[in-house]
Amino acid sequence: MTSRNTSIQWGLVAKALHWLIAIGIFWLLWLGLEQADMERGPEKTAARMTHASWAILVLSLMILRVVWRFMNETPAHPEGLPGWQRMSATLVHLGLYIAVFVQLVAGAMTVATNGVPLPFFDLFSIPLPVAEDSDAHHFWEEIHEFVWKPLAALVAVHVLAALYNHFVRKNDVLRRMTVGVGD
Ligand code: HEM
Ligand code: HEM
Repeated sequence: MTSRNTSIQWGLVAKALHWLIAIGIFWLLWLGLEQADMERGPEKTAARMTHASWAILVLSLMILRVVWRFMNETPAHPEGLPGWQRMSATLVHLGLYIAVFVQLVAGAMTVATNGVPLPFFDLFSIPLPVAEDSDAHHFWEEIHEFVWKPLAALVAVHVLAALYNHFVRKNDVLRRMTVGVGD
């Protein structure tokens, strides 16, 4: 199996990035919703900073993923897939990229407009050149509190589509993002 994509399957790098980011996003949804239920206070602030630190890791992986995607060919849709399914797969993938990036940027801006540098665990923090501004803070916070819902809905459609392709259409779509298919 090669590290690069081929015309029929994803390479090792794309697979590793897909699955690390998928785990990262489930983890961020869990951490984000957990802190939402906590009472205001130092524990909630710490939980938010932990969530934000993991999010910085996911943001870095997403940047790598987009760069890698442009440096590689993209496997073609499997043969025999109806046009509307090709089109919806492309749209859902694009929607996932957009929703993930909007959520990441909104999270980072929520923190930065609060006058706080982006935390990375207790190791270091990253100041953004953004002024403290409570209107902007509320704006980005509302975006962040909204966009995870369409993101989660897109992930659900995406997972169901992957299972449908594997178990109903019995094609290689799931295999080529996991164990691989013979080149
Ligand atoms: C794809 C990436 C991300 C996901 C899926 C995600 C998910 C969530 C969720 C579900 C919440 C709870 C929202 C609610 O209370 O209704 C939340 C809150 C929060 N997130 Fe994220 N987040 C992501 C990225 C980030 C980033 C990059 C940062 C900062 C660097 C961040 C900082 C925060 C903060 C400070 C809160 C608490 C404030 C608030 O409720 O809006 N998040 N996140
Ligand atoms: C938060 C979680 C996830 C996100 C954001 C996500 C995102 C994506 C994106 C954007 C693609 C298109 C390939 C690319 O451009 O890199 C893709 C492909 C794929 N994903 Fe996911 N994914 C997630 C979780 C999952 C899960 C849990 C499954 C398993 C059921 C899955 C199965 C697949 C498969 C099989 C492909 C290959 C599709 C093809 O080759 O046409 N994904 N994913």
